[in-house]
Amino acid sequence: MANRGTLVAFFSHSGENYKVGTIEKGNGRIAASIISALLQVPEYEICTVSGYPDDYDECSRIAKQERDENLRPQLRFPFPDMADINSMILVYPNWWGDLPMAVYTLLDSIETDGLKIYPVCTHEESGLGMTERMLMQSYPGASVMKGFAIRGTLIQQDEEEARRQIKSYLEKSGFAIVG
Ligand SMILES: Cc1cc2nc3c(=O)[nH]c(=O)nc-3n(C[C@H](O)[C@H](O)[C@H](O)COP(=O)(O)O)c2cc1C
Repeated sequence: MANRGTLVAFFSHSGENYKVGTIEKGNGRIAASIISALLQVPEYEICTVSGYPDDYDECSRIAKQERDENLRPQLRFPFPDMADINSMILVYPNWWGDLPMAVYTLLDSIETDGLKIYPVCTHEESGLGMTERMLMQSYPGASVMKGFAIRGTLIQQDEEEARRQIKSYLEKSGFAIVG
């Protein structure tokens, strides 16, 4: 089967978001749905037990505190079964140039040695920031593949164009488009 062994793991915040107002579906959640539909692969949502407030400033304050203290917030859903997974398309927002700490909670908790990680970062102006470097440093046994950055505003305002760009990245990365 095409794309066998691939999982889309995503973290995404809904509520009030940068430049796009209050949104029901986070930018990364939409990107993850596009990816899982194009590749016909399962999704895992990286969601913390405590969640994050809708309010942008309050969410930013908590996110910054978690990052400054290098915390690993507890996740709500059981970790995915990685036995048959060799590639992870990891979708996350750029939070202060870094990944949300909840993403580290997941990656610290699963076997990453030998795992191919494809970083897909939603952002508003900083692109992938330090996230590829942080993934390489933190998980030296994983292969961090070329990442892809996409603006959250594009996903919210022109989903067709977002799908086109995501599809092109997946094709260039060697995935089979089946959906
Ligand atoms: C706490 C926080 C920090 C952020 N830091 C940055 C940043 O440093 N650079 C950037 O381009 N965007 C930053 N953003 C904007 C998000 O990366 C962007 O809105 C992203 O698309 C959100 O994806 P989501 O809706 O899936 O959570 C930040 C947003 C939040 C909430």
